[in-house]
Amino acid sequence: MTVVVWRKYLLIPRLTLASLGAPRSQTRAWERYWAGVTRTGPDGDVLWEADQPAENDLLASALRRHARPGLPMVDLGCGSGRQAYALTGFASRVIGIDGSAAAIARASGTAGGVTFRVADIAAAGLGERLHEELGDANVHIRGVLHVLDDASRQAVAANVAALLGETGTLYLSETNHTGDPLDYLLDQGARPTRLPPLVHRLISAGVRAPRRFGPEEVAGAFPGDAWEVLEQGAAEVYGVPLAPGGPVQRIPAWYAVVRTRRRGQ
Ligand SMILES: C[S@@+](CC[C@H](N)C(=O)[O-])C[C@H]1O[C@@H](n2cnc3c(N)ncnc32)[C@H](O)[C@@H]1O
Repeated sequence: MTVVVWRKYLLIPRLTLASLGAPRSQTRAWERYWAGVTRTGPDGDVLWEADQPAENDLLASALRRHARPGLPMVDLGCGSGRQAYALTGFASRVIGIDGSAAAIARASGTAGGVTFRVADIAAAGLGERLHEELGDANVHIRGVLHVLDDASRQAVAANVAALLGETGTLYLSETNHTGDPLDYLLDQGARPTRLPPLVHRLISAGVRAPRRFGPEEVAGAFPGDAWEVLEQGAAEVYGVPLAPGGPVQRIPAWYAVVRTRRRGQ
């Protein structure tokens, strides 16, 4: 048992070596990461792009149960845009937003109904500005809050509240690994002597490993005096195989459907 607990600390020298010269700013780290991606999708370089139908099925059924159809859909922290394109099945207008210009350059394609833009989703006033432009919108977030610190989570929640207005609904899905970031990296195949290439790309760019995001974190970011949780539960986020031909990774996750408390509630 002690060996298992201590084994993760043996990763530290390898992680330090891999991240030598990497930026501390997470904005710059994500830009560097996306600029180095050569291939997206299930056979690509991006850990979380396994495109397993189970995730989208859960998303689609939750949206059908709770979200008002016909509203624009905003995908916050959209990365290479795969989820934004998938969301056109629910909304005829989808806007993907990411802080990385390289991610957005990769996302921007020709499919109708989807547009992309570069912005910091934690920036004060972003939600109000988008609401002025779009009116009430539904919002989708996958795998973003788990990489943000508490202050940024609060700032994103404020932007989401403004964007939802009176009728929008937020669907979020985040990894919820029960251990700390080192435990997470061990489960991602990181070893003191070697990091899998998918993980090495993230570490060498300076991207920090995610923190857990479960029911407590939902309550922390979306407190009950201002927010109503319509549905939440355990789920899985799927990761691309760590080695060619290997199994799809099944990463413990948590999903929630929330909205702001409405007038008269
Ligand atoms: C793990 S990726 C998830 C991407 C996408 N949601 C998906 O599921 O494929 C996290 C994304 O959040 C973006 N991101 C992180 N912090 C951000 C911020 N403050 N503003 C905008 N985007 C941010 C990163 O650039 C990255 O593309």
